[in-house]
Amino acid sequence: MIKKICCIGAGYVGTPTMAVIALKCPNIEITVVDSNKSRIEAWNSSNSNDFPVKETGLDDIINVVRNKNLFFSSDIEKHIDESEMIFLAVNTPTKKEGKGKGFAADLTNIDQCAKQIAIVSSSDKIIVEKSTLPVRTAERLKQIINKHKQDDVSFEIISNPEFLAEGTAIRDLYKSDRVLIGSDQTNKGLAAMESLVKIYKNWIPEERIIKTNIWSSELSKLASNAMLAQRISSINSLSALTEKTGAKINELSIAVGKDNRIGDKFLNVSPGFGGSCFKKDILNLVYICRQYGLEEVAEYWHQVVKINDYQRKRIFNIINSSLKELKNKRISILGWSFKKDTNDTRESSSIPISSDLIINGASLKIYDPLADKKQIIQDLTTYLESKNLDLKEITCLLSQVKINNTLSECLSNSNAIIVLTEWDEFRQIDWQSYKLNFVDNVLPHIFDTRNILDIELLKSLEYKVLQIGNGDSNIK
Ligand code: NAD
Ligand code: UGA
Repeated sequence: MIKKICCIGAGYVGTPTMAVIALKCPNIEITVVDSNKSRIEAWNSSNSNDFPVKETGLDDIINVVRNKNLFFSSDIEKHIDESEMIFLAVNTPTKKEGKGKGFAADLTNIDQCAKQIAIVSSSDKIIVEKSTLPVRTAERLKQIINKHKQDDVSFEIISNPEFLAEGTAIRDLYKSDRVLIGSDQTNKGLAAMESLVKIYKNWIPEERIIKTNIWSSELSKLASNAMLAQRISSINSLSALTEKTGAKINELSIAVGKDNRIGDKFLNVSPGFGGSCFKKDILNLVYICRQYGLEEVAEYWHQVVKINDYQRKRIFNIINSSLKELKNKRISILGWSFKKDTNDTRESSSIPISSDLIINGASLKIYDPLADKKQIIQDLTTYLESKNLDLKEITCLLSQVKINNTLSECLSNSNAIIVLTEWDEFRQIDWQSYKLNFVDNVLPHIFDTRNILDIELLKSLEYKVLQIGNGDSNIK
């Protein structure tokens, strides 16, 4: 029985996952470690508002288990050495330079962990790949570990990819559709797998625990994300066609999704998928296919990301041409996080769309219920830097941006309103009162890129409104 776990990486995956294991397995002592000291301090704060990751239900769990059997620490070496099982939950972004730049996963963090584990471990360990990794990473880890480890210490590497989605992380961890564990098909590999199966069996029914070889497990994670993103790109690509033909994308999603073989999930039209993983994981898949000489397969998956970029540009173009002239237009941006119920803004479609609006002269008021104000400015700055703008130009463009504390502030006095994240708060806007209180002569145009507003009501109130893929919109 495993008694001590160390998890390297106190982020969106490491902390929620370990919090749930700690809650369900009170006899296991878990320490989450991170090289980012301020992150660890934030998780140790007595005020849950300081926690770096916002997830429904997470604060409650942490309040129950923290300093009982869940600990947060910056003493990485000590906790590696004291543990029997070590989860790697570090970030694996797309490489920014070197071989595979722009496509391959940057494994620097993973490599560093493997080396550190090998050097400091004085007893046998099971290493669990929790991060999303290219297929055959376990082989690479073995090589690093064998180079640095002490002679009498042995390691087993298993793969246990995480499938939680942000915003519903705790619910997903409680009731996972499946838990996937891959190992070497040796006695030692299978024993390591069983020790992790025992942990999950505390709350996951055994029939939902899938056991595979290690390569299937690593690759299934990339395949799952690619196929989820593919559905979104499929529906978003069709939204361009429904607009042209008078069809409605929401009706099409329902009609198509009612076929049990297709299913109704992940068919919501959007300004493109965001989040830290879909794009990077597909680009990684593309890179791996190319490495094996599978150019057609690589191109097939690459198209999913290309359609996502196309959807973002398409939406900007629609807004630009509908408003005729963006210069000096006051535009309200509703939503900055990449989806509702999370403060995570990584790869959010709000970033490129808003940046293009300010580059073309619009002034923005931005409101998001959870996203951090500094993060919003950072996101815009990073994006504008990627367009090769210099500091002076960026400072000038950022002076066109105001971030509001409330929705009503953000909505006031605008020429256009763009819904970019599907927050429930936006569904509840009282458009009638808003109209009555509106001071300008011309009501703002409303662009609903998530199709969450009641278009018939808005039209009856004489708003000009456009929904993506809705041939019935009264802005063309
Ligand atoms: P994150 O950036 O939120 O957290 C990663 C943490 O690892 C950071 O706090 C960082 O400081 C720390 N770290 C990096 N290198 C380290 C090192 N050498 N030593 C100690 N700490 C180190 O990332 P995340 O969103 O939690 O994602 C982690 C992994 O899980 C990625 O591979 C991602 O693809 C995968 N994943 C993410 C999600 C998600 O919803 N975010 C879901 C499933 C899988
Ligand atoms: C996604 C997967 O759903 C998780 O299973 C996976 O573990 C995770 O990636 C990961 O590996 O990081 P996440 O990115 O947190 O989870 O959120 P999703 O709910 O998948 O949404 C991703 C993006 O797709 C969001 O921008 C969302 O708005 C968009 N989306 C989702 C759509 O545009 N349409 C849909 O129908 C569904």
